[in-house]
Amino acid sequence: MSSPNPIASPVRASNDPGPVRVIAVASGKGGVGKTSVSVNLAMSLQNAGQRTLLLDTDLGLANVDVMLGLSPRFTLSDVFAGRCELADTLLEGPNGLLVVPAASGKRHMTELTPAQHVGLVHAFSQLDVPVDVMIIDNAAGISDSVLTFCQAAQDVIVVVCDEPASVTDAYALIKVLSRERGVTRVQVLANQVGHPSEGRQLYDKLERVTAKFLDVTMNYLGAIPRDEWLRRAIQRQEAVVDAFPAAPASMAFREIAKRAEKWQTPNGPRGHVEFFMERLIPTTRSATA
Ligand SMILES: Nc1ncnc2c1ncn2[C@@H]1O[C@H](COP(=O)(O)OP(=O)(O)OP(=O)(O)O)[C@@H](O)[C@H]1O
Ligand SMILES: [Mg+2]
Repeated sequence: MSSPNPIASPVRASNDPGPVRVIAVASGKGGVGKTSVSVNLAMSLQNAGQRTLLLDTDLGLANVDVMLGLSPRFTLSDVFAGRCELADTLLEGPNGLLVVPAASGKRHMTELTPAQHVGLVHAFSQLDVPVDVMIIDNAAGISDSVLTFCQAAQDVIVVVCDEPASVTDAYALIKVLSRERGVTRVQVLANQVGHPSEGRQLYDKLERVTAKFLDVTMNYLGAIPRDEWLRRAIQRQEAVVDAFPAAPASMAFREIAKRAEKWQTPNGPRGHVEFFMERLIPTTRSATA
């Protein structure tokens, strides 16, 4: 076992935890901007005073730590291998943002056994850090893990961009979430748009087909412009909202964060990451059965 993580203890002692809001970011299709959205939304919320934890669940390609220039000592893979506790993986990012990194080039989350899923659930329920918001960056695709994380979150942001495969994959994701996982509300975020109207058009396209075939409430969250500053920020391993706060993408992310802050907070006796895990447990239990 490792030595205690210096971050975990002081955080634990400091504040009384309030209800935690869990937001999962997914897209179906790869490369549309899930990690960029997760990182910048998390950073915007943190900068606005919300204690935010960013969870990277993409064990295939761990981008969150790379995008933020962090060097993980331990990752989720080490937790599964029994080399450390979940608290040991916690990294402190810019402005105190908490990050749980995945691990590059290791097993994909889809390959996790039910026992490992349950292990993750328990590990989170023991993680005694007060957070207001938890953002989950998901892998591409509609694997069981992606669906499970989306199901456990109160809100799912589906990222789309102006490519036919992105819209059809987003639809496929929303369909499975609504029909098989009981998700009733989806937030749609258009990324890499050339013009704000493009985002609305993308949303309308998706909304038309979901309204026809699915029982799900769709909400248009807004659009992030295609922005060269965002690419530069990635090269600098910084969130664009920090590296270039005046960039068009940064302004858009701050707006989206303001909207997300207004979403209804969960009611819960303790409001911890625990509730999130409680929602995960029934699925993982049935997977073990
Ligand atoms: N708003 C944007 N403006 C310009 N480029 C962008 C924007 N969003 C994303 N990109 C580009 O797209 C690339 C992929 O973005 P990102 O890694 O966030 O996608 P992803 O959906 O997380 O991918 P994966 O499915 O592989 O996890 C980025 O490296 C960046 O170059
Ligand atoms: Mg990604």
